[in-house]
Amino acid sequence: KLPASVQIKEVGPRDGLQNEEKIVAVQDKVQWINALSQTGLTYIEVSSFVHPKWIPALADAADVFHRIRRKPGVMYTALVPNQRGLERALAADVDEVNIFLSASETHSQKNINKSISEALQTVKEVTTQSLIVGKKVRGYVSTVFGCPYEGRVELSAVERLCEELLASGVYEISLGDTIGVANPMQVESVLTHLLKHFPASAFAMHFHNTYGMALSNILTSLQAGITVFDSSCGGLGGCPYAPGASGNVATNDVVHMLHQMGIKTNINENKLFEASRFIADTLQIKLPSQVYQAGKPK
Ligand code: HMG
Ligand code: MG
Repeated sequence: KLPASVQIKEVGPRDGLQNEEKIVAVQDKVQWINALSQTGLTYIEVSSFVHPKWIPALADAADVFHRIRRKPGVMYTALVPNQRGLERALAADVDEVNIFLSASETHSQKNINKSISEALQTVKEVTTQSLIVGKKVRGYVSTVFGCPYEGRVELSAVERLCEELLASGVYEISLGDTIGVANPMQVESVLTHLLKHFPASAFAMHFHNTYGMALSNILTSLQAGITVFDSSCGGLGGCPYAPGASGNVATNDVVHMLHQMGIKTNINENKLFEASRFIADTLQIKLPSQVYQAGKPK
């Protein structure tokens, strides 16, 4: 049985732009985020307070937060890797904090220059401090379905991280298919396993669409009881420290599929089309989203 409604968490301004060669001007980011805010989305990951040298495209995070028009009812959030990132995020008044770590050692080293256990320690400290100042914390676990450096990732490593994160007060874990290698049978078996230990409400799914399987993986996740999905306007995105990773599943494609199946999202497809066109024009790229390419909804 499928859920009656689903929450979409828009990660385009962060996951999308972190991987684009072209750096988008602050005013264009602001205009895009303001447009996304008008689509009915209730959650927008605006940027990232990582080291600006590691992700130059998001070095302007504080400025973007300062200049966006926040719509009541929309959560404006950001990635936070460590203590320094948390200070910057709190100064920008993020609505909640998104911590992240990886289930594979090599990706962890390449992405944040830390082992998994060092990252876990840092993440726990950041979580504790965020909760003390009244900010909820969402966690990402990357490379759940495969690592660009190591290949197969042990499910026991994922399970252990989920346990630690939930115990430290993280309210939701986004399970990342960082390089888009998951297939529906694998999604079913990973979720069957994890849902023996944790409630479905503890998870969101974060699929990249490298091999075109993201929508199928979302359907499988819906059937398993998941009701929160990350996606990116137009299908922008990737992880610069995960070679070969292409964009997130497109918000346009997910929303269209859900609406066609009678599942509510609260998102207006027309307004989403307009917001997508804005960023396509700004970046001067062809967006991967098939629904976007099919043209403005009737
Ligand atoms: P490091 O070089 O090991 O940092 O980087 P450090 O702790 O050794 O500090 C070195 C210097 O950086 C110090 O300054 C710090 O203050 C400064 P100094 O004393 O030398 O003057 N520093 C900072 N400055 C600003 N903001 C900060 C910060 N932290 C330290 N936050 C670090 C470690 C984690 C910072 C770095 O590796 C980093 O920023 N990595 C982020 C990489 C990234 O953003 N990757 C993409 C996001 S993850 C992803 O896309 C996956 C996801 O989408 C889910 C999925 O698809 O699976 C979420
Ligand atoms: Mg990602």
